[in-house]
Amino acid sequence: MAGGPGSYVFGAEEKKELMDVIEAGALFRYGTPGVDGFQGKVATFEKEIAARLGHAHVVATSSGTGSLMCCLAALGIGMGDEVIVPGYTFIASISTIAMMNAVPVLAEIDDSLTIDPTKIEALITPRTKAIMPVHMLGNPCKMDQIMEIAKKHNLYVIEDCCQAVGASYKGKCCGTIGDMGAYSLNVFKTITTGDGGFVGTSDPDLYERAFGYHDQGHKPSRTGVEVGNRSIVGVNMRMNELSGAVAVVQGRKLPNILKTLREKKALLKAQLQDLPGVGFRTINDEGECATLLTLLFDTKEKAAAFCAKAGTSVIARSGWHVYNNMEQILDKKTWTDAHPFRQSERTYQKHMLPATDDILERAVNISIGVVDKGLGAGTGININSTVDEINQVAKNIREIVLSL
Ligand SMILES: Cc1ncc(COP(=O)(O)O)c(C=O)c1O
Repeated sequence: MAGGPGSYVFGAEEKKELMDVIEAGALFRYGTPGVDGFQGKVATFEKEIAARLGHAHVVATSSGTGSLMCCLAALGIGMGDEVIVPGYTFIASISTIAMMNAVPVLAEIDDSLTIDPTKIEALITPRTKAIMPVHMLGNPCKMDQIMEIAKKHNLYVIEDCCQAVGASYKGKCCGTIGDMGAYSLNVFKTITTGDGGFVGTSDPDLYERAFGYHDQGHKPSRTGVEVGNRSIVGVNMRMNELSGAVAVVQGRKLPNILKTLREKKALLKAQLQDLPGVGFRTINDEGECATLLTLLFDTKEKAAAFCAKAGTSVIARSGWHVYNNMEQILDKKTWTDAHPFRQSERTYQKHMLPATDDILERAVNISIGVVDKGLGAGTGININSTVDEINQVAKNIREIVLSL
């Protein structure tokens, strides 16, 4: 089954919370607890996940994409503003910047497969407003260096934590270090509601604006007199109570999910040490989610030969998460015809990020908890794999590497 760890541990607890909502028939996120059966699952999730991750405020949303848009809108990023984002990420990190009529500026990654802080400053112009580090594959970005650059140049930091719910960097949860964090709860993520997401921040004004953007400009939880009291034009990205019911349970399962993934990854990784011609991506902090193990070969030829035998593909050729494979943005002469990029003279070409290309041609993802062909991780183990199964996968990988 393709999916993330949360989807593999979906069970009786989620069903019970869902039945509460179904039996009450109160599916909308707003209501008075105890009146007409209203349960307040979305609000409960927001409170609990905020406490768990260390946010002062959380807004639940309908997707990670929506969460990124709430962050960008809350920070007032708009027409012609530039946002620096890595070229190895899901298209949503890039497209949400475009949907604000702002301009994505693609940055190189390093061998952690996250944005390379040493390459950021060269991309800063007078139009730069923000950096969007993406905690790819559950690996926290090098946030110390990123925050230092942001401070020096007076830039906002929006953490894309969609692939890293629960990851931490130097003891702080991803999403609590920059100005705002955006999270996804889609089926491939650490915890899931099928589709869904949330935004976290410690700033009450940003929270109010993010909340307003996700709900037609309303103040948090639609409190107070609304007419005459709205500060932002918004849309509808609300989470409903059915998703909220699942989110509450999945949030409570998060610590166990992370513990299990870290144990299983350690078991697999320990058996793949000291193989000739292959190591691992750099993990920036042991607080990573451990959703994936990434093999990093010395040469792209060796990586390709491994993939041919293992029935998988190098990350460069795995699909959606590589800028070279994003035909929506590539090889346009200008953005004049390609709304919403029309304000920018910037263009995007294949192979414009040579360091990223080199790393991704040598990198192969093995699933630990996220089983997703689109990430190049269609094979490996999952959160429910037994020790015997893990040992067998390790043996197969070893044998293939040793045969190259
Ligand atoms: C890095 C990253 N950003 C944003 C998103 C968008 O999340 P969603 O699918 O919930 O809209 C994803 C989802 O795959 C992602 O991996």
